[in-house]
Amino acid sequence: MKILLTGAAGFIGFHTAQALLARGDSVVGFDNMNAYYDPTLKEARLKILKEHKNFSFTKGDILDRPTVAKVMQGCDRVIHLAALAGVRYAFDHPDEYIDINIKGFFHVLDEVRKQKIPGLIYASSSSVYGGNEKFPASETDRTDNQVSLYGMNKKDNELMAHTYHSLYGTNVTGLRFFTVYGPYGRPDMALFLFTDAILKNNEMKIYGEGKMQRDFTYVDDIVSGIVASVDKNYPEEIFNLGCGRKEELMDFIAMIEKACGKEGKKVFMEMQPGDVRASLADIAHGKEKLGYEPKTRIAEGIPKFVEWYRKYYGL
Ligand SMILES: NC(=O)c1ccc[n+]([C@@H]2O[C@H](COP(=O)([O-])OP(=O)(O)OC[C@H]3O[C@@H](n4cnc5c(N)ncnc54)[C@H](O)[C@@H]3O)[C@@H](O)[C@H]2O)c1
Repeated sequence: MKILLTGAAGFIGFHTAQALLARGDSVVGFDNMNAYYDPTLKEARLKILKEHKNFSFTKGDILDRPTVAKVMQGCDRVIHLAALAGVRYAFDHPDEYIDINIKGFFHVLDEVRKQKIPGLIYASSSSVYGGNEKFPASETDRTDNQVSLYGMNKKDNELMAHTYHSLYGTNVTGLRFFTVYGPYGRPDMALFLFTDAILKNNEMKIYGEGKMQRDFTYVDDIVSGIVASVDKNYPEEIFNLGCGRKEELMDFIAMIEKACGKEGKKVFMEMQPGDVRASLADIAHGKEKLGYEPKTRIAEGIPKFVEWYRKYYGL
């Protein structure tokens, strides 16, 4: 297949591209290489992808509709991952989030409709569950209790996709990712920040006084769910992609310390606006319809990240 992948230089995009290329698909990568976090990490991912003959890349913005239209031509699928992905950054930058995560999403979705692309697979998030207190969260739960602008954006994407399916018959699959981690991971996320602080003997800020729980999902498992969604290409679906296990934040930190071989200097902080206490995915629906079967637990995944981090940053 020929697949347009937005956000190809991003964390999940990079791993997704590698998996698709490895099985023989052609990937048209698209990314604006923004500086939300260190763009040299995006460049490093791209350098690896560009070694593959079936990978092409266009630097561009999803807000630039004519360019989106051009790169989409002749594609069998669109995987839309480009977004502003940080929950906390949205607090002070609402305009950018509305532009990129809502208007940008609309450009991609409407172009998929216009060009009659057979299927759109797009990134949603566990953030759509917002302040819900029912765990594990399942796809049939209500998602009208957002506590962050980012969660609201993703919910909006799901509604738009649903509407396009109803009106135009566009095939749409939304994937609610649960805290993804792994090599080449995002520098604004907990695993990166903690590893960095521990190895450089800096203080590590632990929000929510450390009393948070998360369903941490290894990136290869997420990629397996994305690829299965591309292949199944259901008319309209939403899937939770999590590990299906709720980990205590302090256990997660203890595992990072173990992998780093030393203890971190912990500073406990209050919960931040927009954060949720816990997340846990019910993954039964994905198991049934995608054959989704997460394989990597944090005891295995964290050391893989730390090993990559040490090597990449020469620490
Ligand atoms: N990583 C997670 O834990 C997680 C959890 C839930 C949902 N998601 C979603 O998964 C997707 C991928 O996340 P990620 O962790 O790989 O983030 P990432 O920031 O590493 O990747 C996103 C990529 O999109 C690009 N991008 C942003 N705005 C763009 C624009 N206007 N035009 C073109 N490209 C643009 C960025 O340059 C970046 O390379 C996002 O939609 C995110 O919201 C991620």
